[in-house]
Amino acid sequence: MALPNHPHQAAGAAALSAPSAAPAVALCGLDITFHLEGGSRYQAVTGIDLSVAAGEFVSVVGPTGCGKSTLLNAAAGLLTPSAGTVTIFGQPLSGLNRRAGYLFQADALMPWKTSLDNVKVALEPMGVADAEADRRAREWLARVGLRAFVDRYPHMLSGGQRKRVALAQVLIRDPEILLMDEPFGPLDAQTRQIMGNLLLDLWSRDKKALIFVTHDLEEAIALSDRVVVMSAGPAAGIVADYRVPLPRPRDIAEIRLEKAFHEIHRDIWASLRVEVQKAYAMGDGRELVEGATP
Ligand SMILES: Nc1ncnc2c1ncn2[C@@H]1O[C@H](COP(=O)(O)OP(=O)(O)OP(=O)(O)O)[C@@H](O)[C@H]1O
Ligand SMILES: [Mg+2]
Repeated sequence: MALPNHPHQAAGAAALSAPSAAPAVALCGLDITFHLEGGSRYQAVTGIDLSVAAGEFVSVVGPTGCGKSTLLNAAAGLLTPSAGTVTIFGQPLSGLNRRAGYLFQADALMPWKTSLDNVKVALEPMGVADAEADRRAREWLARVGLRAFVDRYPHMLSGGQRKRVALAQVLIRDPEILLMDEPFGPLDAQTRQIMGNLLLDLWSRDKKALIFVTHDLEEAIALSDRVVVMSAGPAAGIVADYRVPLPRPRDIAEIRLEKAFHEIHRDIWASLRVEVQKAYAMGDGRELVEGATP
C-alpha cells in the first residue's frame, strides 16, 4: 500500500500534487557537523532534503541519536547548518524562525509559574496586554482540557497535563509551523492516544505545517500525511518518505485496526527496522566520531 519512494520524494497511493505555494519548511542539502572538545568532529546528518507544505503533517522517525532533534533545531533556527539551506515559506532562514512554535523534547515549563502564567508568558514578546493575555491563556488551557488546572504549578500536574500546558504555550502564539519533538514520549499508551486525538483536533481546525518527531511508528502513521524515515548515524540521511493515504478525520485508536494501516506499517517498518538494527550494531559508538584521538 504505502510504497517506498525515492528518498526525498513522497509517492504511494496518493501521489503528491505539485504545490503552487512555497513550502512552509524546505531543508535543502543540509549537512550538520558538531565540533567536539579536543578538535574532533561529529557529522550528525548529511544531504538532508525535506520539504513540508503549508498545512501538511509530517512525522520523522529514525533510530535514537540519528539526528531528529538536530533537524528540528535547524528548522527552528537554533543551529546553523554546516552546509545547505533552510527556507521558510520561500525565505532563507537567518536567526530564529519566528514563524515556528517548538515543543521541545524535554519538559520546558517554568516550575515557579502556574499553568496560566506558563501559557501567558508565551505572549510576552508580542507585547499583549495582561488582561488580554490572561483571557487568551485561559481559553487555550480550556481547549486542551485544563480549565480546572489554571492555578496549578507544574509539580502538581500529571505528565500528560504538563504536556497539555506546553502545547497550549506553543499554540497560543498561533505559529504557522509547529515543530514537535517526541511530545508524548514519556506518557502511557492511553494518554498518548488522548493527546494524539487532541492534537489532530487542534491541527485540523487551522492546519499548520507540522514536523512531528516520534519513536512510535504507529503514532506517526495514525497522525500524519507523510512519514519520513532517517538512517542510523553518523552522517544520517533520509532513506524513505511515505505518503499515508488514510482518510481524515481519524481516531488514532480506531485507525490502527484498519487493514490499510497494517499494510502501511509493514512497509515503513521494513525500512525503519534496518536502520534501528544498524544503530544497535554500532555498539558503543566509538567508530562514530571522526577525527577523535584513539
Ligand atoms: N551539541 C552537540 N554536540 C555534539 N554532538 C551532538 C550535539 N547535539 C547532538 N549531537 C549528536 O548528534 C547526533 C544526533 O543527535 P539528536 O539529538 O539530533 O538525535 P535524535 O535523533 O534526536 O535522538 P533521540 O531519538 O535519542 O532523541 C547524536 O549522536 C548526538 O550525540
Ligand atoms: Mg531527539
